[in-house]
Amino acid sequence: MPPRKNKKPIRIAIAGMGNCASSLLQGIHYYSNAWAVRRVLRSNGLLHPLVGPYSASDIQVVAAFDIDERKVGKTIPSAAAALPNCTTQFIKQFPRIPIRVQMGPPLDGVAAHMQNYPSEQTFVVSKAKPVNLARVLERSGAEILLNYLPVGSQKAAEAYASACLSTGVSLLNCIPVFIASDPGWANRFKERGIPIVGDDVKGQVGATILHRTLARLFMELSKTEAVQSVLMEPLKGTDIHIGPSDYVPWQKDRKICFLRIEGRGFGDCPIELEARLSVEDSPNSAGVTIDAIRCLRLARERRLSGPLLSVSAWTMKHPLQPMTDEEARHRIEQFIRGMSDH
Ligand SMILES: NC(=O)c1ccc[n+]([C@@H]2O[C@H](COP(=O)([O-])OP(=O)(O)OC[C@H]3O[C@@H](n4cnc5c(N)ncnc54)[C@H](O)[C@@H]3O)[C@@H](O)[C@H]2O)c1
Repeated sequence: MPPRKNKKPIRIAIAGMGNCASSLLQGIHYYSNAWAVRRVLRSNGLLHPLVGPYSASDIQVVAAFDIDERKVGKTIPSAAAALPNCTTQFIKQFPRIPIRVQMGPPLDGVAAHMQNYPSEQTFVVSKAKPVNLARVLERSGAEILLNYLPVGSQKAAEAYASACLSTGVSLLNCIPVFIASDPGWANRFKERGIPIVGDDVKGQVGATILHRTLARLFMELSKTEAVQSVLMEPLKGTDIHIGPSDYVPWQKDRKICFLRIEGRGFGDCPIELEARLSVEDSPNSAGVTIDAIRCLRLARERRLSGPLLSVSAWTMKHPLQPMTDEEARHRIEQFIRGMSDH
């Protein structure tokens, strides 16, 4: 579908002005330049130059929340560039957005162990009084709230989700706290007629898709029933380890994934594969988020409600209904073209 003139901007609010928010803001700016739109039409880093009639330039940030004294009260671009953010700045200058970051309720957003780090690597809680989330959302005219709170902020995530429910704002839950994939929360959004996408955003070329693709390659190459059955059933806990290691300060926003797969091929002979993937974490998920934001707009136009199953399965690590990557990709394309509501 060609870009449509006189489109209403997609107004978004952001909870958590950390590295992911910084990459998202930069990405919206980067892909909004006319030359970049031409370049992205030849596909470079953003999977969908257009989702329906919408390009990245249709996204407008209208509110933001944080709890760090170096961010609260600052304009959105100054907060994105403030410590402890450490992701790469890939645009020359942040665009001008004269909206100030509001104080959110800290709740469990700041983990106790973070106090042991120097201030340039941790959060410094502001003394400002938390705002009424629902009132700010309502006044801003936001239609989608992006949840970019830290891992483990269950109570804070629930506070923002409740504010969405009371104001009719869609939630794009990018963090591993289960809201869109929790049947109870999912139903509340459905009953209120609000579309939601989550949980835990995927990187575009990240450890998850690399892992899945290589594991599937092993399965497809290894036609013996024995190997297939091992890979199609969950492996024993002692045979599989997928997980993060410690926080490594000098890696900043870079994530390194070491992957090792062992299998058996023709004649039961061993096959081993080792791979190393190094990515800048936050920009890697920003493109996926830009797609999910525009899918939520389509869902609101089509008056859909509750979890968007294909969009969540393609863009998130923990969707309500998991799908293979091929199925999710096929179904999200159908969704974008209006051939499916799910
Ligand atoms: N590719 C990725 O980077 C990726 C992938 C999957 C999931 N995620 C998730 O996205 C989330 C954000 O990642 P990040 O790298 O931007 O984290 P970050 O630590 O850089 O930023 C988190 C921000 O949240 C703020 N915050 C803390 N408590 C708050 C509260 N109660 N209200 C408002 N703001 C609060 C902090 O001050 C900070 O600015 C994490 O949960 C992460 O697991 C990221």
